[in-house]
Amino acid sequence: MNRLVIATKNQGKVREIRDLLADRGTEIVSLAELDNDLEIVEDGDTFEQNAIKKARVTAERFACPALADDSGLEVDALNGRPGVYSARYGGAGLTDAMRSTRLLGELREVPPEQRTARFRCAMAFVEPQGQAHVFHGTLEGIIADRPAGSSGFGYDPIFVPRGFEQTLAQLGDSLKNEMSHRARALQSFLEWFDNSDNSDN
Ligand code: IMP
Repeated sequence: MNRLVIATKNQGKVREIRDLLADRGTEIVSLAELDNDLEIVEDGDTFEQNAIKKARVTAERFACPALADDSGLEVDALNGRPGVYSARYGGAGLTDAMRSTRLLGELREVPPEQRTARFRCAMAFVEPQGQAHVFHGTLEGIIADRPAGSSGFGYDPIFVPRGFEQTLAQLGDSLKNEMSHRARALQSFLEWFDNSDNSDN
């Protein structure tokens, strides 16, 4: 595959996907670089619906294969919130840090053993006028008591992956890229892609 458009303007996601595909020789272009004005409304009820919509609109608009990630954080003590609303949690205009602070406030009384959570990612691949193929990845963990670390993006400073004692933002990008929900979904996509006819493109 010579060129792949990543249907997101989220620079954190683009950086991670670029790193993960770095040795494949595919040119990775983000939506922000192609058309920063193209707004795709994420009105689906599931990660999968949103990912397919973003990939389809982008593939048709630029006549090029497109990959879209829709992802978010599910907190068990909040019945799965913020889930598909992770990016908009607490309303528009908040920073990532403000969203994390809000979430920590909601969990103030929740003891450590009940702070379980997971990141989920649905990754959709669509070619122009093509069928959508969706791949999934999850990363289990718990919500920390307070933010820590400065790498990554979004809720990374408050998420401690299972088996670790530091947040994703403390563990750093390269460790995150070995285990993240996005890395796992991307890995499934690549396994499928390399075994399909598409890989000749
Ligand atoms: P969307 O997929 O563009 O709707 O946004 C997903 C949102 O979920 C992001 O804006 C983050 O708030 C959160 N999120 C998704 N993946 C990650 C991650 O790897 N680390 C931290 N937050 C994430």
